[in-house]
Amino acid sequence: MTPADCRGAATDMAVPLPLLLGLLLLAVLLVWGWRTTRRPAWAPHGPPLLPWVGSALSFDVGHGHWSYSRWAERYGGIYHVRLGPLHQVVLSRPDLIREAFGRSEVAGRPDTALSEFVVRRQGLAFSEGALWQYSRRLTLHHLRNFGMGKSRIETYIHHQIKGYMDQFLTPNIGRAVEIDQTLNVAVVNILWKLMASEELDITDHKIQNMIQEMMEGVNYAAKLVILDVYPWLRAILPEFVFNRAKKEREFGETVRQAFTPALEEHRKDLNVTGEPRDYMEAMLQEQHHHPESMTDWHLLMCLRGLFIAGNDTTANTLRWALGFLCQRPDVQRRLQAELDAEVGRQQPPTLADRQRLPFTEAVILETQRLANVAPVLVPHQTTAPVTVGGYHLPAGVQVIGNAYSVHCSAELFPEPFQFRPERFVDAQGQFKPDRNVMPFSVGKRQCLGEAMARAELFLFLTGLLQNFSFAWPEGETHDFLEDVKNPSFVLKPAPYKVVPSQR
Ligand code: HEM
Repeated sequence: MTPADCRGAATDMAVPLPLLLGLLLLAVLLVWGWRTTRRPAWAPHGPPLLPWVGSALSFDVGHGHWSYSRWAERYGGIYHVRLGPLHQVVLSRPDLIREAFGRSEVAGRPDTALSEFVVRRQGLAFSEGALWQYSRRLTLHHLRNFGMGKSRIETYIHHQIKGYMDQFLTPNIGRAVEIDQTLNVAVVNILWKLMASEELDITDHKIQNMIQEMMEGVNYAAKLVILDVYPWLRAILPEFVFNRAKKEREFGETVRQAFTPALEEHRKDLNVTGEPRDYMEAMLQEQHHHPESMTDWHLLMCLRGLFIAGNDTTANTLRWALGFLCQRPDVQRRLQAELDAEVGRQQPPTLADRQRLPFTEAVILETQRLANVAPVLVPHQTTAPVTVGGYHLPAGVQVIGNAYSVHCSAELFPEPFQFRPERFVDAQGQFKPDRNVMPFSVGKRQCLGEAMARAELFLFLTGLLQNFSFAWPEGETHDFLEDVKNPSFVLKPAPYKVVPSQR
């Protein structure tokens, strides 16, 4: 073979450049994909990880609590799961949730497409660090001052309950009715009074309509979860698919329109030093003194946050409670007998009566356990390295408090799917609180409106049961389960009808 023949043969064997680049790319993708199937050294065990997507394909986005609790049965109280690029550590034991959520390093919030869209990392529930601490302290202080959970707001709660009974229950005595949005109206009118000092009638749906509009934005934002799990979609999907810029503008406008008239009213005669008359005035005073922290958007997000966090949670807990009491008429009768004996029927029950109503307290706690309105609480994120359950987690890991598994644990609560308030009453008939029921979460980010919610649940339930009994419509049996067809952040029961009767 001559040298020229050799050169020819070498040229024939050369791999074309595009093919070479393709092979190189494939190799990089394979190595990258393989690396994503490996769990990080810091992580506890967990469900198998597929290349790139992790465990996302077996995660039920609409019913995340089912997926987390199914995995908890297999992997125990602490496990790691990866959804696309998101690393999550899921805690399904009460002691681990307490340990983690008590640490300031676990008090961050995930930087997700949802929080970016809804609040731009501002407001009470999604901010973190110094801004969150400052706003949380301020809000707690003012809500306490305005009587949250105390008797100052009690009279007004009674007013809304009476309105609800007069306008909604009395006209429907003996008929099958759905416990509809009127219940939410009563709940948000109470929040509005604390916020803006305005007293609204139960027939006034102004605030509820305003929240409904804001919820459309939140429901849209829930769809953006897909961008967190598959972030490369951001690069390839055309703008019109999610229409984010337009939706973001519309949402901002809705929030501004909702609160601006009341804020302007408050600004007109703002007393910058005196005792604030309501939450809006308190926040405006704060803005006057610290405009750099209390920006307009942050202020709006704090106002909005209270409504979103306090409306559906409270109203749906009450919806669950009425359904459970129809399922267990014996429990309903025992609660009413306790009310008759301790409070009578002349005066509405007050918060001071709580001590004397142990069975009622047990009914509320059992409702919150079984209803699980916030089944996985609200996701946290580590802001610095921290040890949880013996694992050294780096910053930037999502920490999920899987309260659903805790509340449905047969070990902690025998026959967990049965509504049995008796489990929280001791042999002497006294109320037996249980730290393992944690509907308001625990630790640094524990629900800010807990005192208010507890007061509302107690006063509504006792106020309604003092005057009415509730039963399923004649001949109906009811599978009283969560509304699986309309998943949302707050677990609600499937729509049901009850027949109220006057006592
Ligand atoms: C039955 C009713 C309620 C339930 C079950 C509930 C539950 C919760 C839960 C699970 C969290 C998340 C805690 C965490 O991240 O670990 C939370 C946070 C919060 N809740 Fe509630 N909540 C209720 C009522 C209310 C009410 C009436 C208000 C307002 C007055 C409110 C305001 C808030 C706020 C502002 C946060 C965010 C706290 C923060 O991130 O620091 N909640 N709530």
